[in-house]
Parts: sequence; structure tokens; C-alpha cells
Amino acid sequence: MADQLEWRQIEPFGAEVVGVDLSQAPPQAILNQLRQLYDQHHLLVFRGQKLTLEQQRSAAGWFGKLYPPAEGVNFISNTRKDGYLGNLELKFHSDLAHCEYPIESVMLLGVELDEGNTSTKFVSSAKAWAELPDDLKKVVENRRAVQCFAYGPTEGVYGFDERLPNWSHRIARPHPRTGELCLYVMPESTRVIEDMPEEEGRPLLEALYEHIARPEAVYEHIWHVGDVVLWDNLACQHARGALNPDVPRTMQRATLGPLTFKQQYPSLSPEAQEIVFGRLGAEPG
Ligand SMILES: [Fe+2]
Repeated sequence: MADQLEWRQIEPFGAEVVGVDLSQAPPQAILNQLRQLYDQHHLLVFRGQKLTLEQQRSAAGWFGKLYPPAEGVNFISNTRKDGYLGNLELKFHSDLAHCEYPIESVMLLGVELDEGNTSTKFVSSAKAWAELPDDLKKVVENRRAVQCFAYGPTEGVYGFDERLPNWSHRIARPHPRTGELCLYVMPESTRVIEDMPEEEGRPLLEALYEHIARPEAVYEHIWHVGDVVLWDNLACQHARGALNPDVPRTMQRATLGPLTFKQQYPSLSPEAQEIVFGRLGAEPG
């Protein structure tokens, strides 16, 4: 392998890496460039990969702290007994936004797919903040928004289930490594802008959602077997359309973050646990 990492720009954001086999640790110089590329673009695509779960976890670990093996959803699947896969549409969201420490990165590998006919959509929340009109920036830059446990059938977009975990984050949330401000509200899990009457906050949230999902900002990854997409969950949001339950679909997943959901909420009531883990069957795409 050469000392210079080969890659190409994805539009409207992201980078496709060429010539890196994720099953093998690269030389330090390449690893450094990969990490730098990741922090510049927040989303990396690798093609033609064949990885065991352990190999994938090891590659994901090049970019941060891995979840313990038993604490992440390892397979997003409707064919494996140990897999989770809902069929519902998932609007744009950041995984575990309702926690103090959301997931930092997700790496998905396409294992079994209706090739070319299933996709995941991504937007850069760093770009979303940078490109937000100034008048909207001014209104929300020092505000926080409450994120609640969503995933799956909720009580409507603005529904609030007090039994489940909630957390408020800054709407302009600084990225922990790069310091970039990232627009951290999302249609799947944001409920209210803190300390603002709902009738004032709701139209603001709608305007922010519309901005986040502006068509020219969306990268839609059309999946093929062997594709790996690694994304920064603090700097990107992802979404997927409804799925056909009769079409086999398996993604192998590795997750990075300082604390898992269970570590952050060690004493959830049995009722809340039942709801949360019941609904995780519909998480994420
Ligand atoms: Fe998700």
C-alpha cells in the first residue's frame, strides 16, 4: 500500500476511500490520513469489503472507542435470529440522541441485500449549521432542545412519554473533536425547544427540519453487498424509507461511543425497559 491514501469526494458530502482492506490494520501513515479524512468529511464509504464481525469491530476501533461486544446491536437483520430490523420509515435522526452521550460513530457493512434497491440517507449536521440562514441561527444558537426516546411507533411527532429517557442538547452542538457546531435537532426524536412555548418552538423546529433535509444536502447511499459506510453520528443524521419485510436485508454493525445506553441509564424502571427494548426492534437503519 502506498503512503498516500486514495479517496474521492462524494457529493454533497462524504469521502469514498479506495484501496483499503478493512480486514487488515493499515500502516500508521494511512491510518492517520483516514482519521483526518473522517473528521473532515464525517462519512466514509469503502467498497468490496468482506469482514467478520470481529474484523469489522477492529476496523471501527481505528476511529474511536468501541462499545463492549454485548452492548450494541450487531446485526440489523430480518433473517438472523439475533438481528433487529423494523420495517417502519425512520426520519432523520442521530442514534441515542436522548442520552447525554449519543453514539459517536456507526459502521455498517452490507451483508445480504436487495442490491441497488435499498438505501440509507445521510445529511451533514455540521454543514446544516454552517449553511443555516443567519436569522434562524440567531434565534436558536444559545438554546437547547429536548430529545426523547423515539424509534418506532411513537405518539406522534410531538408526543412525549415521561416514562422514557430524555436529554436536552445544545441545538448548536460543538463536535467533541473538531469543535464544529452541528445542528442537533431531528424530526425523529426532538420534542421541544427548552424554555420556549411550544407554539413558538414548533414552527422553528419545522423550519430547521426542512433545512436539514433540503434535497441538495442529502447523500443517499444505495447499498451493495460489501459496502461499508462509517458515519459520525454527532456530525450526521441518517434516515431510511419503509422496508419490505419479505425482502432479506442484513447489515453488520459496529458502534463507537464512550458509554452505552445501558451504562447511561442503569436503573430504568422495568416498565421503561420493556418499552425501550421492545421498540429497539425498530431501530435503526
Ligand atoms: Fe439510527
